[in-house]
Amino acid sequence: MMQADVFTLFPNWFDWFLGQRHVRNALTLGSSVEAVDYRDSTTLAGRSVDDTPFGGGAGMVLRVDVVDWALQARYGVDSVAVGQQRRVVALTPGGRVLDEELVVELAAAPALTLLCGRYEGFDERILERFCTDQVSIGRYVLAGGELAAMVVLDAVLRKLPGALGDAASAHEESFSAALEGQPEYPHYTRPAEYRGWEVPEVLLSGHHARVAQWRREQSRKRGEGGR
Ligand code: 6GU
Repeated sequence: MMQADVFTLFPNWFDWFLGQRHVRNALTLGSSVEAVDYRDSTTLAGRSVDDTPFGGGAGMVLRVDVVDWALQARYGVDSVAVGQQRRVVALTPGGRVLDEELVVELAAAPALTLLCGRYEGFDERILERFCTDQVSIGRYVLAGGELAAMVVLDAVLRKLPGALGDAASAHEESFSAALEGQPEYPHYTRPAEYRGWEVPEVLLSGHHARVAQWRREQSRKRGEGGR
């Protein structure tokens, strides 16, 4: 079970995500994902949350006081102490790149806080003082952390027991320990032949041991090729 809060300037972006079946399933089983609006706790004029960077330059920077107020309002303790109770993850393009290992690590946490920045990102003091982690979903820049937060949540929620209809499908999937960190083997379904394109014979053979061996080989081959 996972209790996840996402702090964002665009809470309604998460409505669609939270409506997806696998997410709904995770929530039904006792997990929670809540979008928290930074603007709900800002006391700045016009409910402002960001400002221009000191030293000049393009874009806007999310303010440290705004994040401080939001965390304090949500958790009822000093924002600096929140990181002792739960992982506080800033979504930022320069962070630790999300991979299977990090997903498993985050999925093991009972509570997760995701902080989305906007435009040029976070005042550095947010990262230094409030966050336990900085996570990126790849080496490219998105307009904000919201889509990255959804990627993180999607990957994490499907690791939770019962989130998938078929528990085995999370066990033996790409990059899982069951496949020794290798990508997944190829899948086929009906029709067995289409436009002359045939399914590998071994999969139709009914020999479970041969099927298992073929899949391991394919998985290993894909890992070497890096495709
Ligand atoms: Cl986490 N945030 C933003 N703004 N851009 C990204 C990213 C995160 N990960 C990759 N690009």
